[in-house]
Amino acid sequence: MLFQEWQNELKLWKDTTKSQLFSKNPIFLADVDSTNNYVKEHANLSHGTFVIAYQQKKGKGQKNRHWISNPGGLYLSIKLDLKFFSNFQPFWITATVAIGLCQALQELGLKPTIKWPNDILIQDKKVAGILTETIISNDNIITIIGLGCNISNSLEEICSVFPEVKSNITSLNQEIIQQKSNILSLLLEKILIFVEKIFTESFYDQISEIKEIWNNLCQISGKKIKIERIDSKEIIFGEVLNVTDSGSLKILKNNGLLEEFVSGDIKFVK
Ligand code: BTN
Repeated sequence: MLFQEWQNELKLWKDTTKSQLFSKNPIFLADVDSTNNYVKEHANLSHGTFVIAYQQKKGKGQKNRHWISNPGGLYLSIKLDLKFFSNFQPFWITATVAIGLCQALQELGLKPTIKWPNDILIQDKKVAGILTETIISNDNIITIIGLGCNISNSLEEICSVFPEVKSNITSLNQEIIQQKSNILSLLLEKILIFVEKIFTESFYDQISEIKEIWNNLCQISGKKIKIERIDSKEIIFGEVLNVTDSGSLKILKNNGLLEEFVSGDIKFVK
């Protein structure tokens, strides 16, 4: 995607958006190290600001990994001030963004699924991921929800840096049979409108609905998995009982003991 095309898509979004909150302070950047970092470094940005970049030089992924952010992808960070969600469970705020993206993908005729905690897959291949960062200061808690999605960006470029992901990643250009125009502005609008709807119409009235939609997209309860601990790399086998209210994975391990995982790389096993 050329820079000019990217600009046109954002202009289209701006001219047609129905968002009240997110239309106030959008920030469009041609080039940045990381949109999440940009939000962190500009502490004065208000609740509901979002930053979107044409490309990122140091895009950040989960577990300190690099998120290659070449032109043609969606690179978005949303700033939310958690004083608007007292008693929040951050996991479900992130989940709301994941659901917004999944609903947009469904509208494009795709069948996305969620891989715990925050990966979005199509046909078992990763198309998008979310990195949520929380900043706690004396009087406030800010959350930055960073979403990266492969649309028309070159997967070859990603695989030339990380050859091991070759069979595990995909992009919307590869998955959508009938090519559509303006995918970027469509995704942006769908995600932001869904997030806005949930967060402005009392998050807590809708949290059970969010959990239900998320569980349907994730379908992890009852599955046999192996999970790798992030630090020690130890691999544990077990069966998923459920995803808890705080978003942890509750597992009945093969040794008969229960354990809750807040993070980890999971794989399904037979
Ligand atoms: C993952 O590893 O799955 C999470 C990837 C998150 C990437 C997005 S792109 C926009 C935002 N800015 C970043 O530096 N990272 C997130």
